[in-house]
Amino acid sequence: MGQKKKLRSQEWFGRDGKMGFLYRSWVKNRGVPHELFDGRPVIGICNTFSELTPCNSHFRDLAEQVKTGVIEAGGFPLEFPVMSLGEVLLRPTAMLYRNLASMDVEESIRGNPIDGVVLLMGCDKTTPSLIMGAASADLPTIGVSGGPMLNGRFKGRALGSGTDVWTMSEDVRAGKMSQDEFHEAESCMHRSHGHCNTMGTASTMASMVEALGLGLPENATLPAVDGRRNVLARMAGRHIVRMVNEDIPLSRILTRAAFENAIRVNAAIGGSTNAVIHLLAMAHRMGVPLDLDDWDRIGRGVHCLLNLMPSGEYLMEDFCYAGGLPAVIRELGDNGLLNQDALTVNGKTIWENNSKAECYDRRVIHSFNAPFKAEAGIRVLRGNLSPDGAIVKPSAASAHLLKHRGKAVVFESIEEFHARIDDPDLEIDADSVMVLKYCGPKGYPGMPEVGNMPLPPKLLRQGVTDMVRISDARMSGTAYGTVILHVTPEAAAGGTLALVETGDMIELDVEQGKLHLCVEDAELAARRAKWVPPAPHSDRGYVKLYVDHVQQANEGADLDFLVGGSGHAVGRDNH
Ligand code: FES
Repeated sequence: MGQKKKLRSQEWFGRDGKMGFLYRSWVKNRGVPHELFDGRPVIGICNTFSELTPCNSHFRDLAEQVKTGVIEAGGFPLEFPVMSLGEVLLRPTAMLYRNLASMDVEESIRGNPIDGVVLLMGCDKTTPSLIMGAASADLPTIGVSGGPMLNGRFKGRALGSGTDVWTMSEDVRAGKMSQDEFHEAESCMHRSHGHCNTMGTASTMASMVEALGLGLPENATLPAVDGRRNVLARMAGRHIVRMVNEDIPLSRILTRAAFENAIRVNAAIGGSTNAVIHLLAMAHRMGVPLDLDDWDRIGRGVHCLLNLMPSGEYLMEDFCYAGGLPAVIRELGDNGLLNQDALTVNGKTIWENNSKAECYDRRVIHSFNAPFKAEAGIRVLRGNLSPDGAIVKPSAASAHLLKHRGKAVVFESIEEFHARIDDPDLEIDADSVMVLKYCGPKGYPGMPEVGNMPLPPKLLRQGVTDMVRISDARMSGTAYGTVILHVTPEAAAGGTLALVETGDMIELDVEQGKLHLCVEDAELAARRAKWVPPAPHSDRGYVKLYVDHVQQANEGADLDFLVGGSGHAVGRDNH
């Protein structure tokens, strides 16, 4: 087959002489026939398979499906691995390595003879790291998510990944559940391939992939083990060949309109707060203007339609059977809340893809006129405690705490928190505001998901189920509560958070977007004069690079020198 436009891969495989011999000969070593180098699109399959990333452990099979689709459409697939970030096992936190993995992805795409790329993504950070890297290289790109696990089941009830761990571990601490039952539940929660089955960060980011137009319809919800997930992967293989032939780079998909759609979809699904940081970083790689206040402004007026854990009752498998993300997108489009002309990777607009979607279960997907929770997007909070912003997810919070004034109980580190929280003599009551410091991007380092601090056992035993918690950390998308996150500037960067002392009054007003530390400016100045910055975490290696260059959460926590892109030109030639 011939191509009108000479493809990028022909700079390698289409050469005569010594270099053409070298480029082709090594690839032929596994039985690749000569005609595959004839100028057909070469498709890279960027695989985050790893047995250390259990959510992505089925990706070898998924990659084979993509390859089949690429071949069916006349392309030549070449699979390559990149750093895989498993949320559960990787220490100190997978977020520390998101930017590192994105560098791997970007340079692997740019440096190799590929014309388009399919990104295989699943566990939380694997999605933003691959999209960020691909954005900086800007080839034709399609995202394929690995799909959620089937519903967990334990003693006749559904178990949601993560979410029920928080609930059950608090039951154990409160003496309501035995250790044996707790261990049995371990085996029941995760019983199939796939990523977390709640509307946690992985499901949220898979939904973002679909809402951005980067994934095919139903990318977010088809279970990992559903045969249709394989069909979707195969169709992605076919479409990426078409995108290369039609010369549609990622920048045609990831536009400002697409990000606005994603922000509204995130509100409508009650998505993870982690999406805020990831989408900011992805947009800035693509050169799309997007800031923290866009989340508040664009998400206003969007209701949460999904009754899914952690905000609600059901799981991703139920969401799939109820109609999936297309049914949510249709609700937004029918109510004037969608940029309908945004292009997607199947060549159609987002509205062409979703305008006829149907909902089959209104218990799971509510209509816009009878929402699960009204006005439930991300709220941005500012004040002397967070001059550059903090965020809260009202749909996961308790209504009675959204306007609150209470005395701070301060923990100077997560280690101090763990050491003191079970102490029966800890001076704390249900109206206290728990404050955790030094868990931001620079402070931990890597901004771990510890913002949803477990409540003190003595209050749990009294029946307290939620308290206001404030930190510069993130929160797992599977968690819930009145949790104020991403306080910026973080404590380690000298933010006001570093100056809070136990006993200070703190005022929170989510409706007004306010977070205020009730301490006089003169007193804060005196405390600042005595403040000593924390010692460096490392004087070498990636951790030093990260701490020296990581942005604050309100900008996306990317490394400052990675913002933007360099396109796909290689630069130097080695012949
Ligand atoms: Fe991988 Fe939750 S641990 S998605």
